[in-house]
Amino acid sequence: MDLDLAPDPLLVVPGPSQIPPRVMKALMRVVDHRSPHFHRLYRDVVDGLKYVFRTNGDVYPITASGTGAVETMVLNFVKSGDTVLVPVFGSFSRRLVNHLRRVGAEVVEIDYGWDRAPTYEDLRARVESMGIKQIDVFATVYNDTSPGLVFRDLPKVAKWVKSYGALVLVDNVSALGGDYFEVDSWGIDVAVSSSQKCLAAPPVMSFIAVSSSEAYRKAESVNHPSIYFDIKLMRKFGEKFETPFTPAVNYLFAIREALV
Ligand SMILES: Cc1ncc(COP(=O)(O)O)c(C=O)c1O
Repeated sequence: MDLDLAPDPLLVVPGPSQIPPRVMKALMRVVDHRSPHFHRLYRDVVDGLKYVFRTNGDVYPITASGTGAVETMVLNFVKSGDTVLVPVFGSFSRRLVNHLRRVGAEVVEIDYGWDRAPTYEDLRARVESMGIKQIDVFATVYNDTSPGLVFRDLPKVAKWVKSYGALVLVDNVSALGGDYFEVDSWGIDVAVSSSQKCLAAPPVMSFIAVSSSEAYRKAESVNHPSIYFDIKLMRKFGEKFETPFTPAVNYLFAIREALV
């Protein structure tokens, strides 16, 4: 088959999703990322994302696929030796466990197989029966894309793990903008997502929302070797409506259009 001549197939996978022509058209623009034009673009994108994440906190765009945002979340908000509770109910939760182990976290996995999402009652009962007394971080996927399971009890669980003083970190790469999700009112400290799924924008950008002062305090106390994925740099540059490094400017134009 000559791919140059074949019509693009209709995309019916979780992502990349079908992109409206007006969003594709918006890709054809680039401005200097240290200029007032970019500052305006950055503000528009971040304001739109805050609305979608349902947060009055901060949102930072990252030029990387969803995995880059998950990595940013784990590197900056988890310390080596932290006890991290993770419900595992599909391959993206399994991947999250791998990210966490790489930074030296003591991961407590609660396994649900691939046919049911965690529930508040079950998770709590299993944690209590294991005699777990310390949870520094609760990390989870919201919609595990591989089995297609949504963790509906996340708001209840977030409230409960706060009684341990845990930070709540959520990978919502595949459902942001496509299902209910509320960073602030659900008590989520940090959440990540990306451009190519429910937002129906082109792949390559991801986003991290940071809603609490506890999260920023934790980030101050974590040492990690990454410059590209450093939340402190993202915050410093975000204050002047810029990114620390050259972002995919044209993709941000497309994301702005997708958020309209
Ligand atoms: C829940 C979830 N997390 C993380 C990822 C990784 O995202 P990406 O492929 O954009 O790096 C995906 C991708 O499908 C996903 O569905």
